[in-house]
Amino acid sequence: MMRLYLKESPGGFAPRPPPERAALDRHFRAGAIALCVLLALAGCKKADMYQQQSYRTYDRNPGLPGDTTEQNPVEHTVAQEQPDTPVPQPAIATAQTLARGQQRYDIFCTPCHGTTGAGDGMIVLRGFPHPPDFTSERLLRATAQHFYDTITYGKGDMYSYAARVPPSDRWAIAAYIRALQLSRHAVIAALPQQDQALIASAEPTR
Ligand code: HEC
Repeated sequence: MMRLYLKESPGGFAPRPPPERAALDRHFRAGAIALCVLLALAGCKKADMYQQQSYRTYDRNPGLPGDTTEQNPVEHTVAQEQPDTPVPQPAIATAQTLARGQQRYDIFCTPCHGTTGAGDGMIVLRGFPHPPDFTSERLLRATAQHFYDTITYGKGDMYSYAARVPPSDRWAIAAYIRALQLSRHAVIAALPQQDQALIASAEPTR
């Protein structure tokens, strides 16, 4: 049976080289690959940056003060595990506190809790466990201290924000969570007379 050796070329199919040439080509290719592998392996020789001299904590080290590797931490170093100093809850939440709380909340909490606190942040929409709505009965009754503590220690699937949100900001955020709760659970009777009258006279929105 006759065999056709065809090879694709820009102009269409061209006859392939005869089998002896093909075998030669194969040998050449195998040689080239072996050379590349050899070169690549040569590149694996550990470079100096990789095999540099290293010191363990208690090794003698003539380059450092006291000729020892272990050195005292620099002044004002704070241990990572050191609990932060709690700040007492401010007596009132000023507009400034709320603005700060909103800004911090928007940065750190909206990804999960959402801008209204309903627990529908972007990460949750993509599958993260749904946090409770801040306007749930239980959280409406929760103390500001509970919000502060949740930020400090985390809860369940929510990790601690102690390292990112300093104590005074935790109170600011707690105040802002209250504002979020009020924004969807305002009791009209609790408003000043003037505001109640304004609401009563308002046109319903369409
Ligand atoms: C990565 C997602 C995520 C982020 C970011 C996040 N939380 Fe949460 N949070 C959760 C989840 C999930 C829960 C529910 C935890 C559980 O009960 O297992 C929760 C619960 C809470 C609760 C309710 C605790 C309770 O008693 O049920 C509060 C309050 C809260 N978070 C406040 C915050 C604040 C304030 C921030 C920003 C500083 C924040 N969270 C950032 C996911 C998050």
